[in-house]
Amino acid sequence: MSNALAQTIKAWVYEAGELVLKRKESQLQISIKSSRSDLVSNVDYEIQRFLIAKIESKFSKDKILAEEDKRNSLADMSGRVWLIDPIDGTINFVFQRENFAIMIGVYEDGVGKLGFIYDVTRQKLYWGGPGIGVFCNEKKLRPPKNLGAKDGLWAVNAGMYAQNIENIQIIGENSMGVRMIGSAGLEFISMLKGNTIGYISNLYPWDYAPGMVLVQEFGFKGSGLDGLALKFKDRQKFIVATACAYNEVMGS
Ligand code: IPD
Ligand code: CA
Ligand code: CA
Repeated sequence: MSNALAQTIKAWVYEAGELVLKRKESQLQISIKSSRSDLVSNVDYEIQRFLIAKIESKFSKDKILAEEDKRNSLADMSGRVWLIDPIDGTINFVFQRENFAIMIGVYEDGVGKLGFIYDVTRQKLYWGGPGIGVFCNEKKLRPPKNLGAKDGLWAVNAGMYAQNIENIQIIGENSMGVRMIGSAGLEFISMLKGNTIGYISNLYPWDYAPGMVLVQEFGFKGSGLDGLALKFKDRQKFIVATACAYNEVMGS
């Protein structure tokens, strides 16, 4: 996909980030979604609407799958699809005012073409895709080492780890340890930087689509925790890791 489109999206994401930085100093309006730890704020809605307005003004025929405002389901991934998580890590946004990200993924017929993860408070936008490479702002990144499952840190979902879902504690115990941030986007950034070698969680398509485009550029492999291809539908137990670590853990 064209670098020109990537530059357009970058400008939108930086602008959205400016909006968040302004709003985060003000009183947030927070509502509860499915449970008391599943929150949404007025800023989540504002950023999603801002990004969708930009996309629809230029690409009115494209499809959009986004977390809020009942835009969260699509019949399939055919054609060009934009996946949007306006604030990934809303709990961090509300309680920490940092450690959250704005995320966009662009897919064509189910194939990742562009990914954007903006760590807003650190003002670091990780972006790229096939034929472009992976960048942090304007700096091109080099792929991290293809380490094995024992030779690095794993990022995990706290609840899944505590409950030892699918025996994932074994992966942690056999490795250099586990880490938890509370934002899927920032967990993907950790892998891009080589700080962690893999990530296990329970994610929606907008949580993993942007990051998958980027880590795949660096040779990482991802799937459902059952080893099947990602569904881009509903929530799914998910694993992504360096090819070496993925193959060791998933036995492929
Ligand atoms: C959540 C975060 C969190 C992950 C959850 C996601 P949200 O996204 O990425 O780290 O464990 O599964 O739903 O709701 O803050 O956009
Ligand atoms: Ca979100
Ligand atoms: Ca999210």
